[in-house]
Amino acid sequence: MDYFNYQGDSLFAEDVAVSELAKTYGTPCYVYSRKTLERHYHAFADAAAGHPHLICYAVKANSNLAVLNVLARLGAGFDIVSQGELARVLKAGGDASKVVFSGVAKTEQEIAFALEVGIKCFNVESTSELKRLSAVASRLGKTAPISVRVNPDIDAKTHPYISTGLKENKFGIDIKQAFEVYQLAYALPGLEVVGIDFHIGSQLTEIEPFLAALDKVLALIKQLASAGIVLHHLDIGGGLGVPYNTEKPPHPSAYAAQIRAALADFPNLELIFEPGRAIAANAGILLTKVEFIKQSADKRFAIVDAGMNDMLRPSLYGAWQAIIEAEKMPERETHEYDVVGPVCETGDFIGKNRELAIAEGDLLVQRSAGAYGFSMSSNYNSRPRAAEVMVDGTQHYLVRQREVLEQLWQGEQLLP
Ligand code: LLP
Repeated sequence: MDYFNYQGDSLFAEDVAVSELAKTYGTPCYVYSRKTLERHYHAFADAAAGHPHLICYAVKANSNLAVLNVLARLGAGFDIVSQGELARVLKAGGDASKVVFSGVAKTEQEIAFALEVGIKCFNVESTSELKRLSAVASRLGKTAPISVRVNPDIDAKTHPYISTGLKENKFGIDIKQAFEVYQLAYALPGLEVVGIDFHIGSQLTEIEPFLAALDKVLALIKQLASAGIVLHHLDIGGGLGVPYNTEKPPHPSAYAAQIRAALADFPNLELIFEPGRAIAANAGILLTKVEFIKQSADKRFAIVDAGMNDMLRPSLYGAWQAIIEAEKMPERETHEYDVVGPVCETGDFIGKNRELAIAEGDLLVQRSAGAYGFSMSSNYNSRPRAAEVMVDGTQHYLVRQREVLEQLWQGEQLLP
């Protein structure tokens, strides 16, 4: 559930009409709802209450400082994949000791920075990384807390680009080799073995793959314990899907409760979640204006001012996200439109075959845009990136200004 609802014929973000926001901030513009972010965070935290746990929001989903700050204030930890994301977390008031560091290619510089600020854990993806971590930590006189990201070879049944837990994917260490890797980690200097983690994919709409992976990993945890390697935490990654269209993923609280129940025999094993989409997706919308309506022989196009550089998901994954009118016009006729952007690419669309009652100049809203929306945006076609706004009840705040032209060539230079 989110807080983007119609009041009469006007769509509201919490207590503010989105048409007001478009007037104030222009379009295209991302709008986030603080209440929705908080609600989604609590769904996880409340269901896990009573069992030691940490919700490490996946920064890549939406890394705006205000979004991170709202979650940090609730006590969230963070899952990061780069030094840049770690720097954002710190800038937003996040606590380094609640940060887990995922990713297959951590550089020496990134490792050193994370060790200096004292993160909770490095989620290790290869033996080469383990050796690099050991070397950097030893050189700096530090100890790197580590978890081995195991690849449980479970089919997440999601889009191939966002499936990560199959043995043909680049992520993690084959669960069959994990025992040996833990022994290596135990023997190397500068490392402290603290946990185990997995992440099998994103936009999962069923709980079974999570439970199947969990089964395999719990068996490994027991095997490790009997060899004297006792783990402090289990990080089950992110990946819980959201209802974009007709999908019916489990509610975060039902999901978290079921995972927690599976850990009944491990009351002291801290449970870490890394949700990104489930927290942010439906906490955001993308506002865009219809510039032109164009009719060709057999298609109607709504040409809007948001393009694939603003919202890449439909172009990249064929993702479907609802597109609705900011102001409903019940007397107006509906037609089927392809909603396309200004970018010079045939793949530049944000939705196809949508029934809409619109005219030029109208405002459209793409829903579920809070995750992997702005964070995947670019300046392609030299388009300044959109503004971002956070609504909090009746208040609204500009949390990232629309880029200005000078920013497009910042750092570039002419030849002498
Ligand atoms: N943890 C790790 C290690 C991850 O790789 C990811 C996402 C997450 C957590 C968060 O997953 P979530 O809860 O958001 O599903 N750009 C794609 C999604 C890529 C996800 C990559 N990894 C999309 O727009 O659908």
